[in-house]
Amino acid sequence: PAARPLVVAVDGTSGSGKSSTCRQVAQRLGLAYLDTGAQFRAVTWWMLEHGVDVHDTEAVAARAAEPALESGTDPTGPTITVDGRDVSTQIRSEAVTRAVSPVSTVPAVRARLLDLQRAVIAASLHDGAAGIVVEGRDIASVVWPQAEVKVYLTADAAARAARRAAEEGGSDLTATQETLLERDRIDSGRATAPLVRADGAVHLDTTPFTLEEVVDQVVSLVPQQVEGA
Ligand code: DC
Repeated sequence: PAARPLVVAVDGTSGSGKSSTCRQVAQRLGLAYLDTGAQFRAVTWWMLEHGVDVHDTEAVAARAAEPALESGTDPTGPTITVDGRDVSTQIRSEAVTRAVSPVSTVPAVRARLLDLQRAVIAASLHDGAAGIVVEGRDIASVVWPQAEVKVYLTADAAARAARRAAEEGGSDLTATQETLLERDRIDSGRATAPLVRADGAVHLDTTPFTLEEVVDQVVSLVPQQVEGA
């Protein structure tokens, strides 16, 4: 029989290299890929687009069920659509990046996305499928605690800011680092599903490593599939 499909849960701070790592791990192992941060960003984009005050918890909660989200799980080209519109580019804007942490603290938003995330994961675990790599903040702690592999990725703030500033085409280092630390503070301090290292999660500090080295380390944690069995 084919090996059982598995879930690789990867949580960690903003800018720790999660997305690049997860996409490459998924490609190497033939797994699907779900970026839950993109889902929170898509809801945030929708709130901004509809003029909702993202710091008004009740206003955000009242409209949390409205945006229709769909996540494409191909690791070579993940997509996210809201109400049928592909917003993959829009969700990386500075405005969304600034607003996403407050929106993510709202329990109604988290409950809504939790259902969606579990449905996407379940759909990737059908007979004959290889499984899925899922990245976020609360995957191993809340979304899928039964994940076969759990990884907690971190990196020094300065290293993360340098990486992010380079990605953003040379934006200001100090400002980038402040934004990252502010997001860390909100993501780790919120009441519902804060960022934590879950029980059984392997902590990897990516600061001294190249992307390829981090990918190798994560892949080495995945139990070997029984080939040709
Ligand atoms: O991974 P990212 O930077 O794209 O995530 C954007 C924000 O979404 C992050 O600041 C916190 C929130 N988030 C969350 O609360 N829970 C998740 N599972 C994933 C992201």
